[in-house]
Amino acid sequence: MHAETTLNTIYRPVLIPKEQYAARQGSHSLTNEYSHALILDLFATQYKELIKVRTPRERLSDQQLDDLYTQWISEKNADLEGCWVYYPWSNRLLHILDQDEFIELRTARNRHKITLQEQNKLSQCKIGIIGLSVGHAIAMTLATERAAGSLRLADLDTLELSNLNRIKTGIHNTGLNKSVITAREIAEIDPYLDIECFTEGITTDNLHDFLTRNGKLNLLIDECDDFEIKLRCRDAARPLGIPVVMETSDRGLLDVERFDREPKRSILHGLLDDIPQERLQNISPADRVGLVMRISDVAKVSPRGRASLLEVGQSISTWPQLASAVTLGGGVVADVSRRILLGQFTDSGRYYVDLEQIVSNSSRTHDINVNSNITTNEFDVGRAINAVYSLPEIPVAVYLPKDHIESIVEAGSHAPSFGNTQPWKWIYCNGRLHLFHGNSRSLPFFEFKDIVTHFALGAAFQNVVIKSAELGYHASAQIFPANHAPDLIATIEFSPLAENRDEPSLAPLIPLRATDRTAGMPYKLTDTDLDFLRHAAPGVNARIDFIQEPASINVIAQIVGACDLLAMLHEQGHTDFFENTINWRSGTDEQIENGIELVRVARDPVHAMALSILKDKKIAGILQDIDGGNLLAGQIARTIAASACIAAISVSPDGNPFDAGRIVQNLWLRANKLGLSAEILYSPVILFERMESGDGLNAIEKDKIQRLSTLFKSIIKRPAGSGPVFLLRIHKSSTIATKTNRLALDKILFVVNDEI
Ligand SMILES: Cc1cc2nc3c(=O)[nH]c(=O)nc-3n(C[C@H](O)[C@H](O)[C@H](O)COP(=O)(O)O)c2cc1C
Repeated sequence: MHAETTLNTIYRPVLIPKEQYAARQGSHSLTNEYSHALILDLFATQYKELIKVRTPRERLSDQQLDDLYTQWISEKNADLEGCWVYYPWSNRLLHILDQDEFIELRTARNRHKITLQEQNKLSQCKIGIIGLSVGHAIAMTLATERAAGSLRLADLDTLELSNLNRIKTGIHNTGLNKSVITAREIAEIDPYLDIECFTEGITTDNLHDFLTRNGKLNLLIDECDDFEIKLRCRDAARPLGIPVVMETSDRGLLDVERFDREPKRSILHGLLDDIPQERLQNISPADRVGLVMRISDVAKVSPRGRASLLEVGQSISTWPQLASAVTLGGGVVADVSRRILLGQFTDSGRYYVDLEQIVSNSSRTHDINVNSNITTNEFDVGRAINAVYSLPEIPVAVYLPKDHIESIVEAGSHAPSFGNTQPWKWIYCNGRLHLFHGNSRSLPFFEFKDIVTHFALGAAFQNVVIKSAELGYHASAQIFPANHAPDLIATIEFSPLAENRDEPSLAPLIPLRATDRTAGMPYKLTDTDLDFLRHAAPGVNARIDFIQEPASINVIAQIVGACDLLAMLHEQGHTDFFENTINWRSGTDEQIENGIELVRVARDPVHAMALSILKDKKIAGILQDIDGGNLLAGQIARTIAASACIAAISVSPDGNPFDAGRIVQNLWLRANKLGLSAEILYSPVILFERMESGDGLNAIEKDKIQRLSTLFKSIIKRPAGSGPVFLLRIHKSSTIATKTNRLALDKILFVVNDEI
């Protein structure tokens, strides 16, 4: 590490005026004074090269150049020609050409890509660069090309070894301020360039100085990683008419904001215009991620970039950048800056200099566009009616009026279903209500042994029972499989009910019940609460355990987070979830009846952002390869851990998910009655069931699931041979969850008898 000395902060070379040197000639020579330094006299070589570039037609030989130089210097004292420059940080004394001649020679090979007039014009220009990681490459390119006469550099950061993956400098510079390093390296290329460093970085106090002191900047280049500074420097540059350029080293993203030509232009292309000023003035950490996503237009970030975004703070400590991208960015920004300063480029805009797209194989691979038009398998009503007619005829106790049929079926349709698939179709025929499995979306991964469907149909049936009781009927079901119609799940018969034994009168809560995926507030269930909840399973052979100890809840939360992630990264699980569960359409123009909108699936804005990144299968693939995605798993686990209890429902070994659905629905309504919210945690159930057969899982997945299952069993103990364990999380919510939309009644209910 560098010792704390002023030498660490020096970045200007000492230009020794000729007059001063001339006065000291003889008794006190300059070379004596700098005897401790490494002295390099480059003057003669540079002068000879100057002769050569000034006489391009002559094609002078080395001998001719020597002769011409000797002739020119013969009457002069060589030491008094040109300029002596001392570099304190490297202890070197150099003898070089005078400023004008030096610039003429150093830029000679820019001709005529940059004309002499243009070069002179650029020499008058001042450019400010904030952030000297990516800014280092830009500053070096600008200085090398001499696309400006003055550079103002701001960064408070010091160089670390891990920066050397993209900053081309020496390890001896680690520990030094990045703007100082850049300034020194520029001075070593061209000591006549005017450089000023702001080693404290940009602050509210020095921002105006940075933009205006010693002459207003002609261009500001923003390469800082501080979001607030990004906003502030634009807010300050706009009224001063200073254009802003920013390069993001991912897909060559370049932003140009011409505040010099468009004084009223919204900052950052208006991407934050709808966000109230107060929120931008006081940005919370949670908001910051969302805002960064928004300005970087996250959907257009490269797949590797997006995958990395989810890994920051998990498997990597910061956003990755490559030397190739940073070097390219340096070139792009220097080119664009020069053309802006010369008036050759006048537009504002966002551009991609995307090498992977420009230089790629001829057979292009296209980004996966997740299909938001969720498709469903059509239900064949005619065939279903025929199946109903072929059932044996039995006397009917009571015929229901049409409005009762409709309200009972509507109650049924308010049940939860995985991904809001609503897998139910109802046919009311000759006094009986037939429940079919129909019209559901294809979910090959999440639907295993019909668990998802039968669970949802059980929940729907439970609503039918509760609603019928409210209307004065007892509803009983005959559960099939019916060989002639495998999609006929149950036939429900009604009889008059002497009294409504549905004590807690849950019916009014049916249309209000909704999945609440938010984090809960601290809440302790009383024994009376638990007793009330426990009565959710009368008459059904099942067991409910309430896990209340925070440590155990936490373990289950971790298991669910890990299972959710595993399912989402699984090739088919990804399709099921991102293409056939989340409905990416949102808005008011169209009634969304299918799937779940992102805002409802997401537990909070960060979760929503993570899901929208992960919807690209390429990203899921990358995360699977690097065993990543733990941000998402952690986020899920954190909200689930904030629960009052987790109810573990297991039907008897010979029971089925239909019964589990009935209990969960009843339990959920009871929780609502107590003012509590709930959410089904399904991923462990499906993965543990799948693991038994190994169906569709690779060895790594099986191994992970095996470990999670063992952990699960250590918390929820069951006798060997028990059926699947369903989980309902119960929590005290600070918000009121709104319900996901349902299919219209005429799409799910078909009344075919003539009696009504
Ligand atoms: C078998 C089954 C599994 C479910 N799994 C989950 C789950 O893992 N995560 C989740 O957030 N919601 C899950 N749900 C809830 C559904 O997404 C939700 O019920 C559906 O979108 C309808 O919304 P609502 O409950 O607000 O009416 C599940 C529902 C069922 C029936």
